[in-house]
Amino acid sequence: MPGRLAITSPQLLDLHPAAADLRRLVLAGMERQPRQLPAWLLYDDQGSQLFDAICEQPEYGLTRTETALLQQRAPELAQALGPGVLVEFGAGSARKVSPLLEALQPAAYVALDISAGHLLQACRALQQRHPTTPVLGISCDYSQLEQLPAHPWLERRRLGFYPGSSIGNFTPEEAVSLLRQFLRLLGPDSRLLIGLDQPKAVERLEAAYNDQAGYSAAFALNLLNRLNRDLEGDFHPEAFRYRAWWQAEHSRIAMALISREAQTVTLAGRRWAFAAGEPLITEYSVKYTPSAFAQLAQRAGWRPLQRWSDAQGDLSLHLLEPADRAPAVDLEPDSGQPHSER
Ligand code: AVI
Repeated sequence: MPGRLAITSPQLLDLHPAAADLRRLVLAGMERQPRQLPAWLLYDDQGSQLFDAICEQPEYGLTRTETALLQQRAPELAQALGPGVLVEFGAGSARKVSPLLEALQPAAYVALDISAGHLLQACRALQQRHPTTPVLGISCDYSQLEQLPAHPWLERRRLGFYPGSSIGNFTPEEAVSLLRQFLRLLGPDSRLLIGLDQPKAVERLEAAYNDQAGYSAAFALNLLNRLNRDLEGDFHPEAFRYRAWWQAEHSRIAMALISREAQTVTLAGRRWAFAAGEPLITEYSVKYTPSAFAQLAQRAGWRPLQRWSDAQGDLSLHLLEPADRAPAVDLEPDSGQPHSER
């Protein structure tokens, strides 16, 4: 791009996020009824690889649909976002942001993630691919940050990006807190673009979380290996089976490991009895309709501005602005495209 110099390496800021108190969280989850462990525990090295494999399964369309939508709509998204620095929350391997970087040409791209190693790799790859965009990785627990660190690239209008429907893995109350936190970190002049899987036919939803190749099951069962390794557990993964089912009353998929038999396991220095058929919930994945999500966003202080969906209405990208900001006047009139709504 004329006027911008090629940059060869990204910057990295390590805020040394405190290690989570795994033992306390797991003990609290094991005492719940039904038992339920935090979903992020699924993502050790092996779990992260299994999740990448899930994203490629024919039944799990979320990643493909969102990637295609971001590619198709990148120019419109860039126009609606406007100028600023693009901040991605929980960037992981940052595989989805490229079309947006190309169309938006932001002042800088800032990736936030808890894992410094992962982040460095992702930022290096992105910096090579987008040599004229300054790339900054910040290793932090963004849910706990009071504010983003002082850095010249962040002294601009901030544009948040949270793809992948990850907000569905929080309870609605937690999701409101997270959206409030994004507002605090991004500031009053910001915008937030968020990707959400939507409710659809139960058979399709259940198939997406029960892929035939067995990656969803392996992903959940891997949690037991992690517990055995990190908290001196003695789970036998073969004594559990994986199940995922739609819970219409909560508009969510529940994923659980079901004890095949009555058994007792040791974990974190304690003994835990499981009845035959008893579930250990590994995650929920809430699916919001656009109007349910708009209400959630409003409770957190955001105002929905515009929405883009794929042709099947499987997934949507929501653009939000702070509710106490004066109504925007700089947007183009509606593009008239059938799947873009304000
Ligand atoms: C990361 N998250 C949005 C995935 C989902 O669809 O809820 C996690 C997942 N777990 C099993 N399959 C996918």
